[in-house]
This record gives sequence, C-alpha cells and structure tokens, in this order.
Amino acid sequence: MRQMVLVGFLQAQNCTTLASAWRHPESRTDFTTAAYYQRIGQVLEEGKFQLGFFDDRLAMPDIYDGGNPGQVVANGVRVVKMDPVATLLAMGFGTRRLGIGATASTTYYEPFDVARRFQTVDHMLGGRAAWNVVTSVNDGEAQNMGREEHLAHDPRYDRADEFMEIVLGCWDGWEDDALVVDKQSGLFADPDKVHRMEYRGKYLSSRGTFTVPRSPQGHPVIIQAGSSDRGVRFSERWAETVFVGYPDFEEGKRRYAAFKEGVARHGRDPDLVTVNTIAYPVAAETKAEAEDKMAVIERGYREVDGLSLLSEALNFDFARKGMDEAFSDEELDGMSGMQAMRDRVMRVIGRNPTVRDFLNVTRRGRPREAIVGGPKEIADRMEKWFVERACDGYVVGGTHTPGTFEDFVKFVVPELQRRGIFQKDYKGATLRENLGLPWPQRGWWQAQA
Ligand SMILES: Cc1cc2nc3c(=O)[nH]c(=O)nc-3n(C[C@H](O)[C@H](O)[C@H](O)COP(=O)(O)O)c2cc1C
Repeated sequence: MRQMVLVGFLQAQNCTTLASAWRHPESRTDFTTAAYYQRIGQVLEEGKFQLGFFDDRLAMPDIYDGGNPGQVVANGVRVVKMDPVATLLAMGFGTRRLGIGATASTTYYEPFDVARRFQTVDHMLGGRAAWNVVTSVNDGEAQNMGREEHLAHDPRYDRADEFMEIVLGCWDGWEDDALVVDKQSGLFADPDKVHRMEYRGKYLSSRGTFTVPRSPQGHPVIIQAGSSDRGVRFSERWAETVFVGYPDFEEGKRRYAAFKEGVARHGRDPDLVTVNTIAYPVAAETKAEAEDKMAVIERGYREVDGLSLLSEALNFDFARKGMDEAFSDEELDGMSGMQAMRDRVMRVIGRNPTVRDFLNVTRRGRPREAIVGGPKEIADRMEKWFVERACDGYVVGGTHTPGTFEDFVKFVVPELQRRGIFQKDYKGATLRENLGLPWPQRGWWQAQA
C-alpha cells in the first residue's frame, strides 16, 4: 500500500512560520539551544516522520516600514534566523533515523561551497541529509549579501539550473567505490574513479576536483518548492521531493496531476518525486478541545505580523499604502519575490486588490490551511487528499513548538498508522531508503534538460 510522507516544517528561529508562535503560552523560548532542536527532532522521530527541514531567509522581514527594523524586532516577527545547516547538525546528533534538510540559496552562495557543505553533512548524519534549493526572495537578502537588488525572477531560475549542474557535477566527482584506503598497498583512492570537472556556463563556472567522496546515500536528497510556472519547471527537472502550498483540494488535484506529467516529460519516474503540501494541524483528543486550542492560537496574531510578512514575500513595503487603498497596476507589476502569491490574490479578488485583500486572501501571519480537530477529523482530511491524489504527503507546520508536533504525534499519527497509510517504523537507515528513492546513479540528472 502507498504510504504517506510526513515532513516537519522547521525553523532555526524565534518562532515557527507563524510569527506569533513565540507569544503562545506553551512555546519554548530556548530557541538558540541545541536542546530545543533535539527535542523537536526526537518528537518527529517518535512519530516516524521521514523528514524534518529547516527553511531559511537571509534577512529579517524589515522591508516593512521603510526598512526600519523597530516594529518587527519589537514584535519578534521572524527576527532571529540562525544558520540552518549548523542547526540541522545539532538536531541530527540528537536523532538516529529522521532525515533532516536545510535550505540554501542558489543566488547567494557558491555551488562548490553548497555541494561540499551538504555532502559533508550527509556523511556526518550517515546519509540522512537533504538540501532545499531556493533562489531566495527579496532585496533584504540581496543587501545583507552585499548586493543592491535581488535578481529578477526567471533569470534567477536560469542561473539556478547552472548551479544544479555544478553541484551535481561535484557530487558525481567520486565514483561509488573510488575510496580504497589500503594501507598495505598504499593506495588511497582509485585515480580512474575520481573525476575533474570543467564547467563554464552563462552565469557560473567551476573547474576542479571535488573534495568529498560519495556519502552513505550517494548524495543528499534534493528538495524544491517553486510554485510559479518557471519554478515548477525547475522542480520537475531537479527535485526528488517537492513542497507545495495547494490552496484547496480541487486545485491541488489539478496541480498535482500537472506536476507529475511535467516530471514524466523530463524522462523521470513521477512516482519517485513526492509532492508534499503544507498543513497546520491543530490536534487534540476531541474536536471541541482542538477548537479551544485554535482560539488561543488565533489570539496571538497581530496585524504587523501579516503586513511585514507580505512585504517580505512580495518585496514591497506594505506600510506605504492605506489598509483599503487599491494598489496601482505599476505597484502590482513592481512586486517581485513570490509572484505566484500576488497572482493568486489578483485572481481571487478580480480587481486591483487592497492591502486588506492581500491580508485576507493570503492569511499571511495566521495559521493557513489549519486543520482543527480530533484524530478522526484530521486523519479524514489528510487521507482524502492523499488517497485521491492531491498530494503524496504533508509538510506539517507548527503553530507553536514543540507543542504542535507533540499533539500531532500523540493524536493523529496513530490514527494514520491504524488506517495503513503511514509507516509504523522506518524502512532503512538513510533518508533515500525512507523516501523509497533509488540510489542516485552518477549522471542521473544529465538526460533531463
Ligand atoms: C513548504 C515551503 C517551504 C519553503 N521554504 C522556503 C525557504 O526556506 N526559503 C525561501 O526563500 N523560500 C522558500 N519557499 C518558497 C519557494 O522556494 C518559492 O520561492 C515560492 O514557492 C515561490 O515560487 P517561485 O520562486 O517559483 O516564484 C518555500 C515554499 C514552500 C511551499
């Protein structure tokens, strides 16, 4: 029987994706410690989650209010963002089976550096690592990284294609059995099995011999979450598992089917590229108790959360407009970052939207797609999307941590297992084994442009 994928949506920061999470009465506040991340990892592992992954942004959301960080700092709107790879390692050393991913930007890092860092982490965790490939979103990130403006949307994906060719070229540098380490003969590695790369693209180049051998799962698993047309084409080509935020069941089914067709057009097996949609479960023993919990979560929201996160995502200062003032065509055109989000708001509203329209449609800063209920309600909803092919799994986001994950593992996971749609135990030692992915043959990616 087909089994669901469960992914914990993790942040190396002071809150979850829900900016108000730090204000929740049950949130832990030791978010700068290894113990905090290890506790979350252990809960996910107890629930047999295949994967946890740390998102990232290279800036706090201070595009809001003219770049003045005062409001977001005072309100704790995702203002602490630590290095996700270092945090991943801390969680990895406190867990044994959980796969763990971290996000790294193709726009602001060097491909050799990313290839080396993630391949090293994959060794350190015995083949449990994954890389979430993002092209980054906004000018705040550009400025922290010494540039003025973020690269335009489609060119940054063209550049990301080259980035992937270099990273995978690096990971292919050592054949599976290149290491010999024979003290008797004095042969360290087989020189015929370690290959030099010569890559010169339009945006990027890299020449040299990679310095980290193949890992216990060959190389880290590749995650991607693009949602624009260009972004989806990128993930059809490169991703081994994808994250999406399908807004409803019908659209989910449609986009899921289109994505799988796209994967097949690249000559890849669509069953091997799993699609995981975001879900925010608010779980309790009964529906009534879950509704009480949801009321506490909703009370934590402040408008500044929504406005600063919209400004961050769309690279536009929402403090420049009154709440009920419509955006002009030029202003809408000037929004960049997550363009698919802007397009959806325009589609839903059917005229030039106002700030309030953006807040209402995107629900940024609020628990989106919250599924509130006891074990039955939540499992019913998750089963329907999974069985009727609107997704292969879920990226489970926290409204507060570690509470959301503790409740989900206590109330919902046993019900999913009882229904036979979620694993009762890990299948293997590596993340690839646990996701049902084959060993990555060298050059697997070369035939799929
Ligand atoms: C579950 C999920 C997690 C994501 N995590 C990140 C992240 O950590 N950093 C980031 O810059 N973008 C992240 N994104 C955004 C995507 O990478 C992408 O930029 C966004 O969906 C817009 O699509 P587009 O780039 O194709 O326009 C995430 C998206 C989803 C659905």
